[in-house]
Order: sequence, then C-alpha cells, then structure tokens
Amino acid sequence: MKKTILNILLISVVTAFSVKVVSAQENLIAHKADSVLKMMTLDEKIGQLNQYNDDWTATGPVTIDSTKAIQIKEGKVGSLLNCKGTSRIRRWQEIAMQSRLKIPLIFGQDVIHGYKTTFPIPLAESCSWDLEAIELSARIAATEASAAGLNWTFAPMVDIARDPRWGRVMEGAGEDTYLGSKIAYARVKGFQGKKLGEVNSVMACAKHFAAYGAAIGGRDYNSVDISDRLLWETYLPPFKAAADANVATFMNSFNDINGVPSTGNKYLQRDILKGKWKFDGFVVSDWGSVGEMINHGTAKNGYEAALSAITAGCDMDMESRSYTKNLAQLVADGKVPVNLIDESVFRILKKKFELGLFDDPYKFCNAEREKRELNNPDHPAAAREMARKSIVLLKNENNLLPLSDKIKTIAFIGPLVKAMNQNKGSWDVDVPGVDSSYIVSQWEGLKHRVGNKTKLLYAKGCDIKGNNKEGFAEAVNIAKQADVVILSIGEEREMTGEAKSRSNINIPGVQEELLKALLATGKKVVVLINAGRPLVFNYTAGNAQAILYTWWLGSEAGDAIADVLFGDYNPSARLSISFPLSVGQIPIYYSHFNTGRPALTDDTRFYTSSYNDLSIYPRYEFGYGLGYSAFKYSNLQMSKKKIHHNEQIEVSVTITNTGKYDGEETVQLYLRDLVGSIARPVEELKDFKKVKLQAGQSKTISFTIDSEKLSFYNQQLQWLAEPGEFELMIGASSRDIRMKETFELAD
Ligand code: NOJ
Repeated sequence: MKKTILNILLISVVTAFSVKVVSAQENLIAHKADSVLKMMTLDEKIGQLNQYNDDWTATGPVTIDSTKAIQIKEGKVGSLLNCKGTSRIRRWQEIAMQSRLKIPLIFGQDVIHGYKTTFPIPLAESCSWDLEAIELSARIAATEASAAGLNWTFAPMVDIARDPRWGRVMEGAGEDTYLGSKIAYARVKGFQGKKLGEVNSVMACAKHFAAYGAAIGGRDYNSVDISDRLLWETYLPPFKAAADANVATFMNSFNDINGVPSTGNKYLQRDILKGKWKFDGFVVSDWGSVGEMINHGTAKNGYEAALSAITAGCDMDMESRSYTKNLAQLVADGKVPVNLIDESVFRILKKKFELGLFDDPYKFCNAEREKRELNNPDHPAAAREMARKSIVLLKNENNLLPLSDKIKTIAFIGPLVKAMNQNKGSWDVDVPGVDSSYIVSQWEGLKHRVGNKTKLLYAKGCDIKGNNKEGFAEAVNIAKQADVVILSIGEEREMTGEAKSRSNINIPGVQEELLKALLATGKKVVVLINAGRPLVFNYTAGNAQAILYTWWLGSEAGDAIADVLFGDYNPSARLSISFPLSVGQIPIYYSHFNTGRPALTDDTRFYTSSYNDLSIYPRYEFGYGLGYSAFKYSNLQMSKKKIHHNEQIEVSVTITNTGKYDGEETVQLYLRDLVGSIARPVEELKDFKKVKLQAGQSKTISFTIDSEKLSFYNQQLQWLAEPGEFELMIGASSRDIRMKETFELAD
C-alpha cells in the first residue's frame, strides 16, 4: 500500500517536471530528492539555487561577501565555484554539514582541458578528429579534478564558432556542426565516465546555451542575431548531442539572441531543453548573467531579472545573487509559484544524490587519492599523445620535415622557446601547491629528443608584442651557424579566452619580421605557431619552408612538438576551423551557400559574390592538414544510386599510403543537396574516418548514408530529407575533394 502511494507521488513529480521515463535507480533518486524537498523551508529551497564564488580566484566580477560561511551554515548556498583541493573543499563542506538539513554543497570549476595535467586547448584537440583520444583527455581531467575534491566541471563548451576574433574560439571544437556534435558527445562521456556517482566522475556542463559563439563582430558577450533555422541547424545540435550523452547540467549564456537574453529565454531553456529534449539535469546561469539582464535592458532591477530567469528555466544563479535577494519576495507577491522553485531545487538535489554526496559529503575529499592522481604517471603520457595528435602541419616545402637525426646544429629561436606556463594556454587550472616545473617547455622537449647528438643554439629574438628588434642580430648570428632554424612565435596565451576578443589577429609585434631576417640568411626555417585561435600570417605562409600550428598543447607541449619535428609521430591533425587570409573575410566557413552569383574563380569575380581585393577562400580550409605521407583515394563504390527514405547507401573507398612513412589519414565525407526547397550549403561534413596505414598499405573503408544524413530544417523548421539529387564528395579536406558521385533520394 505504502509503495503504491510512493509510486503515485513519483509519477506526479515525474509528470510535473516533464522528466524522461526513468530506471528504478533514477526513480529511487527522484524519491529521495522529493523527500528532502518536502522538509525544506522556502529560504532553504532558494538557498539551493545559489552558487557563490570561493574567495580564492575569480573568473568574473567578484562580489565581496564576508558572510559566505554563515550563509552556508544557514543552508542558503547550493554550490561553490573556483574552490580547489581536498582540504579547502572539505572545510567548506564541513560548514555545509552544520546546516539544518545537512545538504551537501557541489563544487564546480572550469576544468576545460585538464586539471593538473594540462591537455591541448579544446580547439587544438578538435583538430585531432580523434573522438576516443578526446574522450580520454576529458576522462583524465575528470579523474584528477574529482580527486582534488571537485564534482562539477563547466565544460564542454560546445559553441560553434566561425569568428577567430572571438577570444573563446579556443575553448570549442571549431566551425562545424557535425564534428562539433561528435566532440560534444565524446567530452561529456569523458567527464562523466561510466556514470555519475563513480568517485572519478564529475558532472559535465554543456555551455553556453545558446549561440554565444555567434557574437556579432566576434566581440565577447555581444548580441546574436540569428534566424531560427540557423540556430536549429548549426548552433543547437552540439547541445543536443551533449543532452543525448546525458550531460548533467547546462549553462546558459551572456548574450541575447534576437533581443532576448539567453538567461531569461524561455524558448531555449523551458521549451527546447527541458521540454522537447526532456533534459532532466539543471541549468546554471553564467557568471552574473541573471543580474546582467538589467544591462540588457530586459529587466528593471534584480527583482525582474530573477523573475525572468526562473520563469525561463534557469535553475541556479551563478554569482549574481538575484535569486537570494528576490525570490522570496517574488513568491510572496505571487509572481513565482513555489512549484517553480521546487522544480529547480528538485533537479539540483537529484544531482547531489546521483553524485553520492548525501551518502558521503566528503566522497571527493580523499587527500591520498588527490596526491596519487595528480601524480599519476599515465597522465602525462596521455597528454603527450593528445598533444601530438593536435599539431597541424600546414606547410612542408620539399619535405623539410621530418628533421633528420644527422643534423649537426639546430638554432631554436623565438619568444616562446623557453616558456613554461604559456604552453598551457588559456583556461588552464592554477592548482594549489603546484608550480610550473612539471611543464615540458619546447626547449626541454627538443633537448630530450636530440640528446648530445645535435648541438642546440638558442636566442629569444624578440618579444611577442612590441617593436623591439634588438635581439634580431643574435638570432641571425646563431641561425648562420645552424643547419636548420626552428622559430617559435605566436600569441601570448592570455590573448585568447574569455573577454579576449581581438580586431587584429595578425601575428603580433615584430615576430614575422624576425622570420624575414632569419630567412635572409638563406637557412631553412621551420615555424611553430603557438596560438589559441586561427591567426593571419600571410608572410609566414608564403615564405617559411615549413609550418606547424602548435596551438597551446598543454603540459607535454615540448616533447610532443619534438616527436612531430623528428617524425617519431607523423602529424595527422586536420583543421576544425577555417584560417582566413584576412580579417576582412570573417566570418568564413566552408559550408556556405552557393548564392545566386557564385564566385567562380578568383579571376572572374565581377558581378559575382566575391571580394574585389581578395579571394573568398581561406588561407587554410576546414579539414586541411598535411602529414609526412601521401594518400591515394581510389575505387569509390556505392551500393545504390537511388534510395527511398528508409534505405541506406553503403559507400566504400580504398585509401593507399603512397608515402615512405606509416601514417593516418582522415577521410572526410561531404554531401550536397543539389536542389532544395531552401538553399543548401555547397558541402556539409556528414561523416569521417581516421585510417592508419603503414607505408604502402591499402585499406577499404566504408560509410553509410541514410535519410538522416540528408535531412535539414525546412522553412517550417521541420527536420526532413527532400527527394532529389545529392552530391557525394570524399576528400582529404573541404577543398581537396578527391572523388565525387551523385545519387538520388526517391519520393
Ligand atoms: C564565465 C564563463 O563564461 C563561463 O564559461 C565560466 O564557466 C564561468 N565564468 C565560471 O568561471
């Protein structure tokens, strides 16, 4: 009898909150969360909806608050962010355990690309197109972070970004929706592991919901003006992929979309995310974004901002304190029904139960495990592997690379050669008690590789920024003594990341002039470009003999770069974002429409959709990247040339490694819907496969095309495949299409 009442209760909870059909275990958790909810006062409920910053570091404008501990003791805080290390986290949790209901805090942190062991920045990792490796990178980050007391990471950022001026382009997976969705899924799986509740799993957070990456002009926090179709087709799918991977939380975003701030956007949060997608985790605001609706001009004060956010489905307020200050009054005034608050609290409590924090609030506070995992010898090895998979070989004139072991003298020049922390890139974690000595600088990496066999000469040459050329003479001097020059230049890591948008994305300072001076010696120069975004470097692209885009590769950068320079690893990365020729081409992306007057070639540009002073094509296109081997594509086979909606086409192609080195090719499948009810992109990535081939070896790989791959959102926003002719393109990049065929989808 008791059981029946319980079931009825649960069913009503489940229906009221439109939660998906759940397992017995999830039912139990829902029941537990509901029973805690029933014991809570309104103030305690509102408390669960607050997230405060720890005083240690800040990743936004800080609110000084000396009463934090008291508020926690009173049950008025649900979560802390920017609090790291088992001892500090334990101390805060002990305070929470003094509250009336002893509801544990959850501890969040931006663990974006590693905790102590720093992996390449996400944009770099995305160039590996290696989903398993990306998942592993997130897994290791979660293992270390959870060992250091954390149970929530504000990652992955799954915003599609087509504007390299935007500083946060470094934090995502580039410009493409298909690749971005696959990576979003892999990262969530990596962070969350087998399931929440395992001691080495953390909650992931798909952010920033939504379309933050489409900020006008690439200016951070700027407005987004976007059609519904573009939103659904390009910007939302990676979020859907994260939801499909069972991501525990979402973060809304700073920007407005067509005038409605995401934080107060009911359509996004309540209708799409919690309604249509049946997301049963919780949504956290971005830092202060609830209160920022006053600046947006959509709320007169904190009272209205809180009303807008909670109504729209934002469950937790990160640092704006609008909920703490206004929700009780909003309830008293009858503006916010208590069940709206209950829903948010229920969602948060469920996650606390799933994490196992009610059973043991100190579950993640084992100092021994912290020490062990932060020094786990497997982690640097995985970071090195991920780093070498992320390096993109952009140019290799006359096969200058790989370098030979027989080289007698190398001049290693540039402002980044001996840098340590720079290699970690933006959004690294400053781990308490850990200095930078574990990071492998580029200099150290090269030294490890060449040992005593090759003489290494060093000169800084110049700074990253500024006009000072005093170091040129010394650099030129050592270049003259060397057999080959390696020049390491780029941005400072602080030049990308949040609030780091730039209107000028050229290589800063006099670094390209330094390259010119070095080339004037007649020596061959390999350039390493370190950056968090695609930069513009036309002089380097035209003149250096070899270029490796090394992004920010993390704590094992030096060894990984040496691996690639000497061919211990054959570079296999492919760009996940277009590299413009000029900032004037931005936004630039491969999957554009044909337009009514397509640009035919660079020479016939008049009265076509082109620039009068520049090609419409990027310097390096999406999908581009070289290796030390060459691959031949042959024997394209299709099982059918005509299918119906429920049928599939099997496509196969033979890839042969015609080079001297074993290597890996990323075979890319693009489709084009030749005639649609609305214009369709000239090509869209719909599948890819990485294939490892020994020198001389051939393999036949296959893909499946079904109507899902042919579908798009029509004018009525219906997702469907329209009958007609399609073009199939198989290539080594979005421009290097090796084979083409057409096929038909029948009525
Ligand atoms: C603001 C950023 O936009 C967000 O991505 C991050 O998670 C929070 N700050 C917390 O640091």
